Amino acid sequence: MKQNGQAVDVVIMAAGKGTRMKSRLPKVLHRLAGRALLQHVVDTAAGLNARHVVVITGHGAMEVEAALAQPARAGAGFDLKFVRQEPQLGTGHAVQQAVPALPDDGVVVVLSGDVPLTQVDTLQALIRACDGSKLALLTIDFADPTGYGRIMRAGTGAMQAIVEHKDASEAQRAITEVYSGIMAVPAALLKPWLAKLNNQNAQGEYYLTDVVKFAVEQGVPVVAHKITDALQVAGVNSPVQLAELERAYQLRVAKALMEQGVRLADPARFDVRGELQCAQDVEIDVNCIFAGRVELGEGVRIGANCVISNARIGAGAVIHPYTHIEGGNSDKDAVEVGPGALIGPFARLRPGAKLGQEVHIGNFVEIKNATLANGAKANHLAYIGDSKVGERVNYGAGSITANYDGANKHTTVIEADVHIGSNCVLVAPVTIGAGGTVGGGSTITKDTAPGALTVARAKQVSITNWQRPEKKKK
Ligand code: UD1
Ligand code: CA
Repeated sequence: MKQNGQAVDVVIMAAGKGTRMKSRLPKVLHRLAGRALLQHVVDTAAGLNARHVVVITGHGAMEVEAALAQPARAGAGFDLKFVRQEPQLGTGHAVQQAVPALPDDGVVVVLSGDVPLTQVDTLQALIRACDGSKLALLTIDFADPTGYGRIMRAGTGAMQAIVEHKDASEAQRAITEVYSGIMAVPAALLKPWLAKLNNQNAQGEYYLTDVVKFAVEQGVPVVAHKITDALQVAGVNSPVQLAELERAYQLRVAKALMEQGVRLADPARFDVRGELQCAQDVEIDVNCIFAGRVELGEGVRIGANCVISNARIGAGAVIHPYTHIEGGNSDKDAVEVGPGALIGPFARLRPGAKLGQEVHIGNFVEIKNATLANGAKANHLAYIGDSKVGERVNYGAGSITANYDGANKHTTVIEADVHIGSNCVLVAPVTIGAGGTVGGGSTITKDTAPGALTVARAKQVSITNWQRPEKKKK
């Protein structure tokens, strides 16, 4: 986004320790809805079309930088930089570290790595309020403002200063309008203010919030963009807060889907850790988790307790309870389930499972990197890996493709209309010719001809009138 032709540069403060998480993992790498807190903020910056994104790191800097560099580089077209803040002397000191990375001609938006749910449109409104020439603060009223910086206004309503809770008098503490921690300000104004900060306050820190006083002294207008949605400015400081934010986020996602017509058995028992797209008349039972990119076609029904990641499920398919679909990120590894398919209960579809129309996969069946053409069925206790399975194949209970020789993976091809009996081992590489039948209990190591019955097991022998040994009498 550009405002009066000015580019937006984002500074994300993420150097703090996060002591209250009581974790070895840096706070900003804890996950909300499957993404690191800091990743949410970086993605928000991407949504603003930021020019530069400068992340201030300190505690756990190496880990934070390693975790972020990868996805961001692959993602949006902005320049992501990390700047170290050592030691951490306050929010003003944090932003001071970013100064060399910030051009003078941009508008700077200051965000925190532990405030994950700020919406792009809110920040756009804040940037409009800044208007390329003002100091714009995102503020909110809290019934209990304890701990927050209070917004001091003159009788006219004009903002005078932010007073931190620890520095505030009793009268000031009664003020309920607080600074959210988010501001937008032209870099050309911000930089000289940062140079003037001192740490003469209750905490002995360099407060970013002191720039308000400097703006007022200089006659630069200070404007507020006041919101009512506390979720957008909520920070994560403890596992309890993280869980609260997670539930609040999930409830929003659930409500948005229900407004589109999706029927959730219980919006409180529903989790999306990525992106879920649903066509009309989708029904989702309780305790399902969706991760990565999942698309559900028209009329799809998902049973209770399913975990589904990176998958496309075709119209009318039914996923019975306790099914685990674990597609990968790439097109090749994503799982595809064709229209009208019946999957589960207790089925496992692994990366690269591609199932055609009306395929049936039953309980305790595992499919990995395999294509099953329309109408193929594997209803009980089976493994199909690195395979091509033709139309209408019936794959018996307890049968497996032995795709791994201890060093390499090999392919099994089962042509159309084959019937594989129960308890067979198909030792790859091997092809079962179209329309063929493999007798139960067979271990198949050689290709079979189309239409043939192949039986590969010891011949049945019966000894008539067989006398079982008897117990010796003492
Ligand atoms: C800050 C604001 C306060 C506001 C509140 C909103 C200041 C002085 N106060 O308070 O007015 O109401 O946010 O939550 O700015 N950080 C660093 N380096 C540091 C210190 C902090 O990177 O040296 C990071 C933290 O990791 C965190 C963010 O800056 O992500 C905010 O720091 P925090 O200590 O939570 O700010 P508060 O003192 O709570
Ligand atoms: Ca805080």
